[in-house]
Amino acid sequence: MKYRKLSTTNENLSAIGLGCMGMSFAYGPVDDKESIATLNKALDLGINFWDTADMYANGINEQLISQVLVPNRDKIFIATKFGFRFRDGKASHSGAPGTYVDGSPAWIREAVDKSLQRLKIDTIDLYYAHRIDPNVPVEETVGAMAELVRQGKVRYLGLSEASAASIRKAHAVHPISALQSEYSVLTRDVEGEILKTTRELGISLVAYSPLARGLVTSVVDPSQLAADDFRKGLPRYSDEHLANNQALAKAFGEIAADKQVTPAQLALAWVLAQGNDIIPIPGTKKRKYLEENAAAVDVTLSPADLKAIDELLARFPDTGGRYSEASMKLVNN
Ligand SMILES: NC(=O)c1ccc[n+]([C@@H]2O[C@H](COP(=O)([O-])OP(=O)(O)OC[C@H]3O[C@@H](n4cnc5c(N)ncnc54)[C@H](OP(=O)(O)O)[C@@H]3O)[C@@H](O)[C@H]2O)c1
Repeated sequence: MKYRKLSTTNENLSAIGLGCMGMSFAYGPVDDKESIATLNKALDLGINFWDTADMYANGINEQLISQVLVPNRDKIFIATKFGFRFRDGKASHSGAPGTYVDGSPAWIREAVDKSLQRLKIDTIDLYYAHRIDPNVPVEETVGAMAELVRQGKVRYLGLSEASAASIRKAHAVHPISALQSEYSVLTRDVEGEILKTTRELGISLVAYSPLARGLVTSVVDPSQLAADDFRKGLPRYSDEHLANNQALAKAFGEIAADKQVTPAQLALAWVLAQGNDIIPIPGTKKRKYLEENAAAVDVTLSPADLKAIDELLARFPDTGGRYSEASMKLVNN
């Protein structure tokens, strides 16, 4: 594994992190045994940057991870998030009816203790606001998060899907170590104002869904997805955009084959090539994918490769939005 420094800290994080969400939620049937084996394999491969959130299967994902985290606490840099709440108390997807964002100090104080209990640890390494609550000044949210640092419950602070203006306001209250936002060959929203701001302030970008949720790792067939798979509700999987995205995935796979890498490795190498301040956290619940993804740290893309990818994307522009309309209202606040 290769390592990249998390900004504002001396922490060396694996250049390929591990997104744990899909082990409990969103992407089809769970398999706890294989997920635990995958977490142990991550340790073997030197993947020390693990990502979860309190809302992933309503805390079940944090509990699952704790089984490997607790006996290996010093080897893992654990990141979790707060902010999504469910009106009926049941697990749901972000942006689904009944889901709302809470960035109030009272909820933060409650949420952190719940995450610590589920993870069975004393301190969270990186604590993110999962979304910016439009009804609470971001300074108040980050002020409450900074209090957790002073109490020793949290080491570093992060934001997810925040606007450039919110990042600036937050960073003025307490150093923000990471912005976690969606970034992949297909989702380029952070390019421009947001990356300009994180770079000016020296904040790392943690790239989530760097495989475009699997859209570029294989040719999409929504009929193969489980009935409750989160992706079924995304515009990119709708009839309107499917043909474009299937053709795109096929052509992306051809570039990967020419380079003798897998599509997932090509997608991760593309993210890594966008700057040393960026750490992708591909999600998987399978050891074979984890090993494949880890090997992407050694894939170098030439300017010609990057140009070929850009040209391919330009040929298939009708990808559709990355989230539903309701979920899009929650980003870039
Ligand atoms: N901050 C936020 O709002 C936010 C939102 C979404 C995600 N995240 C975080 O980011 C992490 C990563 O994002 P993500 O999981 O949404 O999307 P992703 O990493 O882009 O893609 C995950 C999908 O790709 C598949 N996959 C993984 N490696 C593969 C490989 N080598 N070959 C073929 N397919 C492969 C996975 O399959 P399997 O599931 O079968 O392994 C899964 O279906 C999450 O786990 C979560 O921790 C954060």
